[in-house]
Amino acid sequence: MVCLGNICRSPLAEGILKSKLNPDLFFVDSAGTGGWHEGETPDPRSISTALKNGIDISAQRARKFRLSDFDEFDIIYAMDSSNEEDLKRLAATADDRDKIKRILSEIPGGKIKNVPDPYYGSQKDFDAVFSLLEEVCTEISNKLS
Ligand code: 4NP
Repeated sequence: MVCLGNICRSPLAEGILKSKLNPDLFFVDSAGTGGWHEGETPDPRSISTALKNGIDISAQRARKFRLSDFDEFDIIYAMDSSNEEDLKRLAATADDRDKIKRILSEIPGGKIKNVPDPYYGSQKDFDAVFSLLEEVCTEISNKLS
């Protein structure tokens, strides 16, 4: 799960998808294309919206996406088109590129294409991001399980 800062959207996506998959079978992680928040906990508003929904993401720590992630992971979900473009620029091979998907493309017929960046928004924006990610992670877990 990849966003820009790895403190708002992708930590939520990681926590939600983890809550739906068997940890013995699936490894879910998240990262940011930027490293400004490396080592930080998720944004308090992400922690709060997750907790309201029974998911604790407070132990997560932000990290920057690394090239070895292309080898470590089978699917790399970008939260928005800008994250997707940044990742595609980093991809060294066609195999790497093929692993990158825009996460909301997993909702059949979905109208919203990008998970909006809530960083400069309010708690309500974080709650809306949670709902969107909850919906798409349900699709993803049904597909994978
Ligand atoms: P995220 O949100 O990409 O969903 O983690 C952001 C977090 C931090 C910044 C931008 C977006 N920032 O500019 O520091």
